[in-house]
Parts: sequence; C-alpha cells; structure tokens
Amino acid sequence: MKIIAFNGSPRPGGNIEVLLNEAIKPLREAGLDVGVFKLNTMNIKPCQDCGGCVETGLCIHSDDMSEIYDTIRGAERIILASPIFFYSLSAQAKIMIDRCQSFWCEKYLLKKNIPAGPRGRKGLLLLAGGMKKEDGRQSAEAVAKGFFRTVSVAEHEALFFGGVDAKGDAAKHPTAMKEAREAGKRLGT
Ligand SMILES: Cc1cc2nc3c(=O)[nH]c(=O)nc-3n(C[C@H](O)[C@H](O)[C@H](O)COP(=O)(O)O)c2cc1C
Repeated sequence: MKIIAFNGSPRPGGNIEVLLNEAIKPLREAGLDVGVFKLNTMNIKPCQDCGGCVETGLCIHSDDMSEIYDTIRGAERIILASPIFFYSLSAQAKIMIDRCQSFWCEKYLLKKNIPAGPRGRKGLLLLAGGMKKEDGRQSAEAVAKGFFRTVSVAEHEALFFGGVDAKGDAAKHPTAMKEAREAGKRLGT
C-alpha cells in the first residue's frame, strides 16, 4: 500500500511534525511505505490560473509539483497535516492544493476519476491550532475536503487539536498523540 503525507507546517520539530510522525509510526511499524513531502522546503509555484490544464488535466508548469502529481496518482492513502494559519490551512498546504486544479479539470471537466487501487483511496486530515476555540477548524476542513474530493479520496477522517501553540504542546496534549497514532493505524487498514 502506497501512503503519502503532506506536512504543511514550516516549523521543524513543530506540533504538526510531531503529530504526523505519531500517525505514521504504526504504518511504518506495519512495514508500509510512507513518503513525506515537507511542503515548506519544496519549490512549488502558486497556481497561475493560466488555463493550461483545462483541456488536458495536466499542469503545464514544471517544478516540484511534478513529483507530487505522480505520487498522488499512485497513492492509496493520503495524509494532509497543517497548522491553522489565519483560520485556514497554511499557505504551504494551500499552494500545493491550488496546483491540484489540474486534477480538478481531469475529474470534473474531462470526467475522469483518478483510478484507485483495490483498497480504494482514503485520507487523514491532521490540524493543530493555537486557539482553544475551533474558529479555524471549519474553514480548514472545508479546504481539505475540496482537496480530498479533487484527488479522488472518497473518504477521510479529520482530527483537530486546539490550544496547541508552542513547540512541544502537541506532545503535552492529553489525547493528541494517542488519537494521531490510532488514526494512523486505522488509515492503514
Ligand atoms: C501565521 C500564523 C497564523 C496563525 N493563525 C492561527 C489561527 O488563525 N488560529 C489558531 O488557532 N492558531 C493560529 N496560529 C497558531 C498555530 O496554528 C499553532 O502555533 C500551531 O501549533 C503551529 O503548528 P506547527 O508547530 O506545526 O507550526 C497561527 C500561527 C502563525 C505562525
């Protein structure tokens, strides 16, 4: 089973990295192949709305998205992990998602679903926000849902942890690590 994970946090050793590692742990322990894209370190230009993908479903720009497009096609499980930044996903995550407009054209204009393997394609969304209130959760989840549907992820589970702000807060959260680990395990089934 091919699993890919997108880390949308810019902070090395930050809360999202810690939660993502925890979710990935049981998958790797089960011998599954998990590839992680640290979006902040990648060269991904924002979507130019050039219309270059409208007729083909293929982006005409060449940068690190090329590898992501190929990998998404082969992925059976996709994890999207992002901090809440200004009531939404991080810009790093959103830039990658906007570039999936080519998949949107393929799916909705050209009426081609990205084929999933025999085990289907499932997703996991991991979100952490500094505020205890869940204000950013809804908008971030709406963006993530659009992404998952566009890349033909039929079902996904979402975890949000609020009040997680300073480095190390995720590890101190009463349930976050356990919830992330259990969600990772479920994703591998
Ligand atoms: C630019 C920026 C915007 C933020 N906006 C929000 C916000 O709208 N809501 C919130 O709950 N936390 C917000 N935060 C706090 C982060 O979500 C929080 O610190 C999170 O744990 C960071 O995850 P990381 O350690 O993986 O980078 C913001 C932080 C930054 C740097």
